[in-house]
Amino acid sequence: IVNSTVGDAKKRQMDGFTLEQNDKTPLTSYFGTKIAETDIALRAGARGPTVLEDFHNREKISHFDHERIPERVVHARGAGAFGEFKLHTPLTGLTTAKILTDTSKTTPAYVRFSTVGGSRGSADSVRDPRGFAARFYTDEGNWDLVGNNMPVFFIQDSIKFPDLIHAVKPEPHNEIPQAQTAHDNAWDFMGLHPQSTHMQQWTMSDRAIPRSFRHMQGFGVHTFRLLDAEGKSTFVKYHWTPHLGTHSLVWDEALKLAGQDPDFHRRDLWDAIEAGAYPKWELGVQLVKEEDEHKFDFDLLDATKLIPEDLVPVKNIGTLTLNRNPVDYFAEVEQVAFCTQHIVPGMDFTSDPLLAGRNFSYQDTQISRLGVNFGDIPVNRPVCPFMTNQRDGQNTMFSKTNRTAYHPNRFDALPTTEPAKGGFRSYHETVSGIKERLHGPKFNEFVSQAQLFYNSMSEPEKKHIISAYQFELSKCYETQVQQTALNRINLIDHDLALAVAESLKDVTVPDAVPNHGKKSAFLSQVAGKTQTF
Ligand code: HEM
Repeated sequence: IVNSTVGDAKKRQMDGFTLEQNDKTPLTSYFGTKIAETDIALRAGARGPTVLEDFHNREKISHFDHERIPERVVHARGAGAFGEFKLHTPLTGLTTAKILTDTSKTTPAYVRFSTVGGSRGSADSVRDPRGFAARFYTDEGNWDLVGNNMPVFFIQDSIKFPDLIHAVKPEPHNEIPQAQTAHDNAWDFMGLHPQSTHMQQWTMSDRAIPRSFRHMQGFGVHTFRLLDAEGKSTFVKYHWTPHLGTHSLVWDEALKLAGQDPDFHRRDLWDAIEAGAYPKWELGVQLVKEEDEHKFDFDLLDATKLIPEDLVPVKNIGTLTLNRNPVDYFAEVEQVAFCTQHIVPGMDFTSDPLLAGRNFSYQDTQISRLGVNFGDIPVNRPVCPFMTNQRDGQNTMFSKTNRTAYHPNRFDALPTTEPAKGGFRSYHETVSGIKERLHGPKFNEFVSQAQLFYNSMSEPEKKHIISAYQFELSKCYETQVQQTALNRINLIDHDLALAVAESLKDVTVPDAVPNHGKKSAFLSQVAGKTQTF
């Protein structure tokens, strides 16, 4: 065990779980018996059968047989690093969370970046959203901000997530294509789900082929809540802005890198940190008062919409620096288990129906990926003291010293009706309604923000979007799939549809849609309504 007193609280904690092993350490069995011979198995005579008795041979092969665990069901390919977060602009009065109010504190942090669709061994430079999952090991518990490098998402409701992922993953009959969305199923899904129109623009843009992880923005996507000492709520959206600026590859570079250096992004992050060129991001917030919830012409609970920065500016509040590579990739990156439900007192969720499913899904999948005690894995442990009544289960790592595991009890925790001071409290939201499968009426508009995005692009960026659509859609075999996609593109911009159609056979560009001109209705509605906080 590495006995360390250097580094931040997380480093010291991790060191306590790190086995110091190198080629000078004598080889032993898992249980400490020194091994004299590891190259030739025990056998009956030089040319005779290998014998079962050779426990070292069996232990070595058997452990190897079980080395693989299920890869993440999405975001399987990734790279992670440790670092620190320093708040510079406190959100005093808006939240009780110390990570967002105490500027004297430096909080240990961890980030895992990832692609979404590809398997663990796929290439880094593919066209895909990128995961930007950040963890803060705060004194009040772990806070996970599990976001992407795009501010919106394909779907509005988590019940659609299995459909979405089944459509963008390789097709089930032939497992083709790996790690890209250029196939019939993906475009069929998007054609049948107008709610994906805005996110589709982001994924066809240069944002989907970042220059490196260090050059990416990040977004919490959902609207969350901050809670003050009285339980008053403020809506918040989180943004990460890279100090190096936001840069992308061009498609030709991305294609070549996928062949020449499939580890391009992973290597870039590792090398930069080893060289001391520590990547940094600003954490920014968009804040909306509770009473302003319904003042927008989109719903704050709809993850396919962003809050335009003209309406609510982003205010930077702190700096994240990544400055330490993992010691053991499997232990510290493959086994890290982020979850949107990991929040701390002074924060809460909203009723975003996509977020609700995520809060269930991450922990659920981690139970099958890592086992029910995944919280004991060092990279997942908080640095603050913690005490639960959870017990037992496979791979219980630690002997707990308490004599009870129920609450209340007369030995460790006295019966009380008082909630623990400073403990997590949910926002006292008044809810009422008929139980039904419906979304709010503002969930049904899908084109305005896609237009907002397309119209904000420079001419070279628009050309890249056209080429991306041409490449992706020309890989589809089904004309009907291409036609439906083109009909949707036409709703965003007629000229875009005309340009994309040039690379497709047997499709017809529909007429321009009168109400979806170059300047969207949405843009004119939001003009001059900037909120200040
Ligand atoms: C993994 C982001 C929607 C289920 C991830 C990861 C990120 C991410 C960054 C990788 C975490 C890591 O590095 O370990 C997002 C974003 C979403 C979204 C930004 C939408 C705003 C959803 C939804 C579901 C879901 C709706 C399910 C209902 C999962 C699962 C994993 C995952 C199961 C694998 C987790 C693991 O095995 O550790 N997601 N996701 N995600 N996501 Fe999402």
